[in-house]
Amino acid sequence: MQDRLFQDPELVAFYDAENGWGDDTRYCLQLAEHARSVLDLGCGTGLLAAALGTGREVWGVDPAAAMLDVARSREGGGAVTWVEADARTVRLGRRFDLVLLTGHAFQCFLTDADQLALCKTIAAHLAPSGRFIFDSRNPAREEWREWVPELSRRVFDLPGLGPVSAWNDVSFDSATAIATYETCYQDNRGRLWNATSSIRFATKDNIQRAICNAHLSVESWLGDWQGSAFTAQSPEMIPVGHHSEPQFA
Ligand SMILES: C[S@@+](CC[C@H](N)C(=O)[O-])C[C@H]1O[C@@H](n2cnc3c(N)ncnc32)[C@H](O)[C@@H]1O
Repeated sequence: MQDRLFQDPELVAFYDAENGWGDDTRYCLQLAEHARSVLDLGCGTGLLAAALGTGREVWGVDPAAAMLDVARSREGGGAVTWVEADARTVRLGRRFDLVLLTGHAFQCFLTDADQLALCKTIAAHLAPSGRFIFDSRNPAREEWREWVPELSRRVFDLPGLGPVSAWNDVSFDSATAIATYETCYQDNRGRLWNATSSIRFATKDNIQRAICNAHLSVESWLGDWQGSAFTAQSPEMIPVGHHSEPQFA
């Protein structure tokens, strides 16, 4: 699961320029309104966790030290407990009112076994009446087809570096539903940075099975971060759920 996109400090510097505040972070901020504690798994550079950190206990877990370095130093980062760990195996010895993953971090878990291990971690950290939420892109939309140089080229400004052009290229293995994509950045002096990443486009059945086998259950499937109900052509698959059996605190 080593991905230079998240592990290399030079590449991590591009992350926030491309991934700012969005519908997912806004939705989760609202969902957390009454939560006294939140666990953000795959928290990355900590934009959401740091925003949640006022007035409640918030923990952020990620295996990428370079992402956590950005998280720690951002405004509000001092109020969050950051843990460098793998969400498949981490055990924090405490439970949370809300456990979440955003930014399609769920898709970094490439096999049924990895997804089950993650869901067991969610279950192990969910308070008896707690809720979980995460997102995975709907494979029916075949979004990876847009991650080719002709369709993905974009330009953004990075403070201290100036204009940066970015593009992707991708190959998709239909046997495993894994998209392996390259992310390239180039500054206006021609310096190039790149990384190769793999993510899985799991089906809703794959996800449902992992959730169920971890003794969790889904109360609703959303199809986008505006909160619409899931339909076959929704862009996202977003389970919102809880423990499947009563828990005793
Ligand atoms: C696309 S980023 C999303 C980050 C953040 N949630 C956001 O919305 O900006 C995916 C994150 O998942 C993390 N990740 C990958 N494998 C992981 C694992 N096994 N356990 C926990 N986090 C993982 C990566 O390090 C990365 O920070």
